[in-house]
Amino acid sequence: MTLTHRPRRLRRTPSLRALTRETTLTPEQLIHPLFVHEGEGLTEIKTMPGVYRHDVPGAVASAQEAWALGIRSVILFGIPDHKDAHGSGAYAGEGVIQRATRAIKAALPDLTVIADTCLCEYTDHGHCGPLVADGRGGWLIDNDGALDLLAQTAVSQAQAGADIIAPSAMMDGQIAALRIALDAAGFKDTPIMSYAVKYASAYYGPFRDAAGSAPSFGDRSSYQMDPRGGYREALREARLDVEQGADFLMVKPALAYLDVMRTVRDAFDLPMIAYNVSGEYSMVKAAAQLSFMDERRTVLETLIGMRRAGADAILTYHALDAARWLREA
Ligand code: PBG
Ligand code: ZN
Repeated sequence: MTLTHRPRRLRRTPSLRALTRETTLTPEQLIHPLFVHEGEGLTEIKTMPGVYRHDVPGAVASAQEAWALGIRSVILFGIPDHKDAHGSGAYAGEGVIQRATRAIKAALPDLTVIADTCLCEYTDHGHCGPLVADGRGGWLIDNDGALDLLAQTAVSQAQAGADIIAPSAMMDGQIAALRIALDAAGFKDTPIMSYAVKYASAYYGPFRDAAGSAPSFGDRSSYQMDPRGGYREALREARLDVEQGADFLMVKPALAYLDVMRTVRDAFDLPMIAYNVSGEYSMVKAAAQLSFMDERRTVLETLIGMRRAGADAILTYHALDAARWLREA
């Protein structure tokens, strides 16, 4: 049989497959998330097997482990002891993120420390901004009040040594508010990684369990995006953040939104981050524990999928495992 085209010719050997591979994945493209609490020691997060709440020295040790595996960036999430209406723990000079940032930067000056900038872990009501009465006996999330508190949080994180500020609150105008506040405080060179396209998602369930940040009433659908929204809304959110001076764009969650990622990637020239969120992690861990799937192959295939969809880097709870597997490969 004379066939002109035989794509299998290029799949014959590992070397040929490597030569013609279009998508790569390296440890530097992974961001290792760290939950840091104010207590002492390590507690495993029940809904995220293999992920822990660290104390500050434990967070330093985990960052060191990541560094040794070739990972060059971590993102910090704080779990404070004290919560109040305005989330004051988020912008406290001795807040848990501020202390963890200083400790990690002292131990690993070349590691990029990203600070998640939000209020929901620090507010007693669990929303990403302060509340105001809606005049009908209910509550609204106060967008412009949140901007002031988020700006204070960003400045305090930058003062502690954070290399990148990553606002995740989905408040309108937050990129501009943070850029202005950072510049005024002398942090003109601190980049902003915007959670630009962030959906109101069931996939955040395990994270909220980990951080104790589930809203005490209602949900986040008045500020996070509706999964039934389309590309127009996604592009608008991304464009507004680009106009306000974002340095990176993020799409979150990743797996159910790979099409959105590709669309955003093609429309803008900023680096794009995929957030492989907690529920995506927990699904794979649960399936692996039941021996329903091969964890290593599943994780690496999933991360490659996000790279193929246009992500420059991936924030993932699999980062340490994936970096280890990539080194062995
Ligand atoms: C805080 C924040 C959340 C996540 C990252 N930053 C929770 C939320 O928006 O409810 C979720 C991450 C995950 O599920 O892994 N705003
Ligand atoms: Zn939040």
